[in-house]
Amino acid sequence: MDKRYYVTTPIYYVNDIPHIGHAYTTVAADILSRRNRLIGNEVFLLTGTDEHGQKVEKAAKGKGRSPKDHADLMVENFRQLWQKLEISGHGFIRTTDPEHIKTVQGLLQLLWDRGEIEKRQYAGWYCTPDERFWTEKDLVEGKCPDCGRQVDQIQEENYFFLMSKYQKRLISLITENRSYIMPETRRNEVLGFLNNNDLGDLCISRPKQRLAWGIPLPFDDNFVTYVWFDALVNYFSATRYLTPHAEQAGHGDFWWPASLHIVGKDILTTHAVYWSTMLMALDMPLPGTIFAHGWWTVEGKKMSKSVGNVVDPQTLAATYGADAFRYFLFREVPFGLDGDFSEEALVHRINTDLANDLGNLLSRFLTMAEKYNAGVIDFQGEAPAAVMRATTELTEVSRTVISELLGDPYWESLRFNIILERLWDIVRAANNYIAQTEPWKLAKNDPEAVHCILQNIWSALRVTALQVCPFMPETAEKMWKQLGLNSLTREVHENNHAAMESQKIFSWEWRPAYAVKVAKGEQLFPRIEKTTERIKKMVKETPPAGEAAETASPAVNTTAPAEQTNLISIQDVIKVELKVGLVISAERVKKSDKLIKMQVDTGELRQIVAGIGKAYTPEDLVNRKIVVVANLQPAKLMGVESQGMLLAATGADGVPIIITPEKDVEQGARIK
Ligand code: MSP
Repeated sequence: MDKRYYVTTPIYYVNDIPHIGHAYTTVAADILSRRNRLIGNEVFLLTGTDEHGQKVEKAAKGKGRSPKDHADLMVENFRQLWQKLEISGHGFIRTTDPEHIKTVQGLLQLLWDRGEIEKRQYAGWYCTPDERFWTEKDLVEGKCPDCGRQVDQIQEENYFFLMSKYQKRLISLITENRSYIMPETRRNEVLGFLNNNDLGDLCISRPKQRLAWGIPLPFDDNFVTYVWFDALVNYFSATRYLTPHAEQAGHGDFWWPASLHIVGKDILTTHAVYWSTMLMALDMPLPGTIFAHGWWTVEGKKMSKSVGNVVDPQTLAATYGADAFRYFLFREVPFGLDGDFSEEALVHRINTDLANDLGNLLSRFLTMAEKYNAGVIDFQGEAPAAVMRATTELTEVSRTVISELLGDPYWESLRFNIILERLWDIVRAANNYIAQTEPWKLAKNDPEAVHCILQNIWSALRVTALQVCPFMPETAEKMWKQLGLNSLTREVHENNHAAMESQKIFSWEWRPAYAVKVAKGEQLFPRIEKTTERIKKMVKETPPAGEAAETASPAVNTTAPAEQTNLISIQDVIKVELKVGLVISAERVKKSDKLIKMQVDTGELRQIVAGIGKAYTPEDLVNRKIVVVANLQPAKLMGVESQGMLLAATGADGVPIIITPEKDVEQGARIK
């Protein structure tokens, strides 16, 4: 196995404000980096900024700055975003780095010396905003086929890389190596293009008088390199000075070629054709894979500044958490296909997969572990009879998923959504396991069975934390610690476990050498109440205070409350112990259409029976925060014990409406 993993993102135009598309590729690269570190590989992730060209020159002029000063400012947007999105241990290249410039010039000189570059008369239609030449037949109704804007005819001398002579070699490379371009559909597109068109030579220069902000050609100072020759070389030049141990002799050759270039579908041709042929001409090794992902639209529309629907990843990460955003991006859409973003879809994923399935599992487990075994997880041996069947089911599902994920086909084909789907099979199986075995019923008479259940849920959560770590590193770390383990990052990442050791840590049976005592921490993913959205809208629609006074129509009843005879003192109020409770599970009481029996975590686990069954289903209640009278004498309702009372308002027609805290608050919190 190759112990070295080098993954790249495109270098982003420094003029752009980072959007969801930029975040998408960089997070994908980070997920792969983290995964590779986890299985014991040495990893280098390269991202960065593309800083030369007319657009930057123009924007800088508009702001009265030099292009480099302008780039220095803009680059910070990207650096900050990568920090917010938890992009780990990466190299950041800028095309204005002196080392990069030197490498580009060195390679250009080499190609010039070898006769791979020629000076020619050039005529074409030029789109200034896109900085691109088009031939007559490319134009659509005389306009730029990409952006639809006006093009100018230009005649000038320029330098050309003799790309056409590599057409055949490129076709055989892509045909013979199925994983050189991925996914398959994109590979077929590139092959189709190469088989049906004559590859031209590539214009790689611009006269300096037309574009000053670029890298000068080493053999003709009147010209600068055209953007792609400068930009693509970044992947190689970084291995000369940014890779780990850059100071050691020969390290650069250790890192080249890249294992994987991840790009958006729009820049696949430049990578698959220009970059590959450039490397062929230079006699340099080719990258392992070029993977093209799809594009995000926003609520069905193309994302654009003019429509005003550009999705800002920084705001999303700040509102919903970087982990939830990362999870959404890779669970929602198969990597390689186009996808549609909406905040509603994001909230839905958070509430279902993250809060309900995963967060709920952890919190139910921790409450039970603390209640039934003082947080200690130490069961060994055969599952007791009462839970044998259910235990076998859970372990079988989990073992199958673990072996599928270790087998690598999903990781190698970057099927992130399938990986997450399979992991959630473990999460759901563990939730099911609790529902089937009902540990609260076994607690009194079969403590062994309860300890066995706890041990197995612990294993399910541990395996999930480990496997989900590349996607949601912060969540994984929180889970790991609440499960009573030392830091995941320290244990696995920094120590860079040998592959064997890492394999062991993935297995169902793994336990650390130290004693495990779980410790309940903060909730992983508080449920996002949909009402927040509605409230936001209502706030917008409510006229400002001044106007409201003038337009308010129906008179508000302002009479003082009638004199009351049932007043109580504050001492009486203090006697009532009200607490926030989290509903862990709920089911109907047999033969009653009104009563629902719930297991509620109010800092301790208790059973509450409430007459709300006509207004709520058990599913409505699970994972909800409620208000509980915690010091009520236990009572039996239809023979079922209730250890407290849930508070509800009486709505129209006497329908009960459950009281919930207005903001999320930890279960067990006192209400005063
Ligand atoms: N500078 C060049 C790349 C040079 S790489 C040697 C460039 N930069 S870019 O900033 O315009 O685009 C960077 C990436 O963002 C591309 O991979 C592109 O596909 C991606 N995306 C731009 N809009 C996108 C979406 N709406 N959705 C997903 N990705 C998108 O091109």
